[in-house]
Amino acid sequence: MMDKHAQPLLNQLGDYPFERLKKLFQHSSPNPELLHIDAGAGEPRLPLPSFVQDTLNEHIQGFSKYPATRGNADLQRSIVRWLKHRFHLQQLDMRTQVLTANGTREALFAIAHTLVNPEAKQKPYVMMPNPMYQIYYGAAVTAGAEPYLLHCLADDGFEPCLDDIDAKTWERTAFMYVCSPSNPTGWIAKHDYYARLLELADQYDFYIVADECYSEIYTDEPPIGLLEVAQQLGRNDFSRCLVMNSLSKRSALPGLRSGLIAGDATLIARFAKLRSYTGPGTPLPLQAVAAKAWSDEEHVTQHLDVYRNSLRAFFDVWSEAHQPEGSFFVWLPVDDDEAFAKAAYEQQAVTVLPGSYLGANDAQGCNAGAGYIRAALVDGEDKAAELAVRLKKVRV
Ligand SMILES: Cc1ncc(COP(=O)(O)O)c(C=O)c1O
Repeated sequence: MMDKHAQPLLNQLGDYPFERLKKLFQHSSPNPELLHIDAGAGEPRLPLPSFVQDTLNEHIQGFSKYPATRGNADLQRSIVRWLKHRFHLQQLDMRTQVLTANGTREALFAIAHTLVNPEAKQKPYVMMPNPMYQIYYGAAVTAGAEPYLLHCLADDGFEPCLDDIDAKTWERTAFMYVCSPSNPTGWIAKHDYYARLLELADQYDFYIVADECYSEIYTDEPPIGLLEVAQQLGRNDFSRCLVMNSLSKRSALPGLRSGLIAGDATLIARFAKLRSYTGPGTPLPLQAVAAKAWSDEEHVTQHLDVYRNSLRAFFDVWSEAHQPEGSFFVWLPVDDDEAFAKAAYEQQAVTVLPGSYLGANDAQGCNAGAGYIRAALVDGEDKAAELAVRLKKVRV
């Protein structure tokens, strides 16, 4: 019998990567002689910054009030101060160019439902890197768009490839997700890449959504941001640009669920309208913690040291492998990514994610994530070194 509740767009999506991983491991168990290392999820596991507890206690009464969807003024001010300082911005208006979100995940998803016209004669394209943070794909599909995959290949330094895209394709594009630093490849967008995108965006009338939530985790210099490039090009209104950032990675507070959206005031206004229906405000005590976290750099510098030391320890062992420019992920080539992940779990009690779970098939059936595994270095230097040694021993 036909299921009258079937949602055809949702049905186009496969299981989320961590569900697939559970299925892959359902008949396996980790080597009982070793302590398990979970490098599967990108969840920072560093000590809580010291201000969290006190700030929460001080603002605990805030749980008895409904928070406004846009965030309160203290948090907005603190976000604007951080963005201006970090990206050398001269102007950014907290009332019209900034919104808060319960983490960037919901915002990255909801933005597709703001920028895609589901009634367009031809399905609009949403461009995205392949492999990608899977939310982009799910958002595009459920908003009624067609994901357009930009392959990120080792030979190009994992830069999402913009070659060979014809004018018709660009004209159909509603917006593009850029992830810099990239999960999972560690690529970072440079000035010229963002500048080229802005030129194309003007020429073909589309928007750029930059997911910069790993911006504070890098091996060399702090990555440039989309808003910074826009300003350098004289686009002081940040037209066509939205950036998302988060305290989950920067402050190792993924459970706080606090992020920001900033950029083009027209887009912000449209997004704020959607969020006034779908996005609950962040609880006030959590907003107070978030305001503190955006205002403190000391804990961020400490975290960065830990990530850099972890990467160094890992690549001391894997010196031949590609090193990420940013993020805490390593992206290692293997023959068969599912078989490798299973063997790593059974032989070495290590959880890593098969790269194909982070990619999608293009029209030719090519998944740019296949043949890689992703490991997150989120447990400090010693575990990173141990992880590297164990991964070397895996035999498929
Ligand atoms: C690339 C990328 N963007 C966004 C997020 C979402 O982070 P949050 O919702 O915690 O801000 C993640 C989380 O893993 C991520 O890897």
